[in-house]
Amino acid sequence: MQNILGIETSCDETGVAVFNPDRGIVADLVYTQADHAAYGGVVPELASRDHVRKLPAMIREVLERASLQPRQLDGIAYTAGPGLAGALLVGASTAVGMAAGLGKPAIAVHHMEGHLLSPLLASPAPEFPFVALLVSGGHTMLVAVEGFGRYRLLGETLDDAAGEAFDKTARLMQLGYPGGPEVARLAENGDPARFEFPRPMTNRPGLDFSFSGLKTHTRQLVAEVQPRDYPHIAAGFEQAVVDTLAIKCRRALKETRMKRLVIAGGVSANRRLREKLDRTLPGQVYYPDLKLCTDNGAMIAYAGWHRRAEATADGKIAVRPRWPIDKL
Ligand code: KG4
Ligand code: ZN
Repeated sequence: MQNILGIETSCDETGVAVFNPDRGIVADLVYTQADHAAYGGVVPELASRDHVRKLPAMIREVLERASLQPRQLDGIAYTAGPGLAGALLVGASTAVGMAAGLGKPAIAVHHMEGHLLSPLLASPAPEFPFVALLVSGGHTMLVAVEGFGRYRLLGETLDDAAGEAFDKTARLMQLGYPGGPEVARLAENGDPARFEFPRPMTNRPGLDFSFSGLKTHTRQLVAEVQPRDYPHIAAGFEQAVVDTLAIKCRRALKETRMKRLVIAGGVSANRRLREKLDRTLPGQVYYPDLKLCTDNGAMIAYAGWHRRAEATADGKIAVRPRWPIDKL
């Protein structure tokens, strides 16, 4: 297989890209839905409708940029889960329909495997084995990665995801959505030490996370202070998340005796997190390119290429809104 089209529609980004093993990412388009900002979070029905509106034109555009005819595609990869059921169905039905029409196979991709493999598209690319910290709006997990498709879940969040905590904190301070970049921006002018924040679950063993207590703590602080102190809250909150993630990453490297850490997912775009990990962890830390941190079609095309042996041509449209990564 040479030219793989990748389609991502699991949440509020519509992503389409072409990956070719000789040429890398040949073309890559991402459309971020804006309608959700007014609601402070993703509205599933709006997300599905927007994917329906955007996807066909984006596929045409990506093929044009890649100078490819649809029949020159060798496979069509799509995010089959986890994610919002309705949103997933738009990408899945488009991919499976298109594949059937062209007589090509379709490849169901696990969204988090897409994130997990995305640092392999950067240079330097990490070698196996490595520990992956996956931090997005819906997931926070540490995974031991022995090779392609060989994943062992080390720990995950028991409640909110790290990105979700950023989004909720942003909402408390009336910032925009997605909250991560907004909180990070506000934090630039804040003093992270002005208010005290907990580092949840770091003083007991284990590699699980919990961010809901941090959110409650932040809510109480916001209620007590003046808006002029919000930058300090943003900075203190961001530092608490960053420290907590760094402590668990260090612990995961120690427990697995692995030497490389890979970080991916929307929150891996966070500058303070990158600085902290680079500064404090033993061994090297690997990141995806900034534009591949948040949801995109390139990581799906790339993961699809690795999963090409599992391609199907049975025309079945199956999505898995819940899909544990260690069941792959
Ligand atoms: O991976 P992603 O695009 O979508 C999911 O699969 O969830 O991640 C989106 C999440 C959002 O919660 C957003 O607030 C967060 O990533 N995010 C950030 C930053 N950029 C995006 N969080 C902290 N700092 C950032 N710079
Ligand atoms: Zn994602």
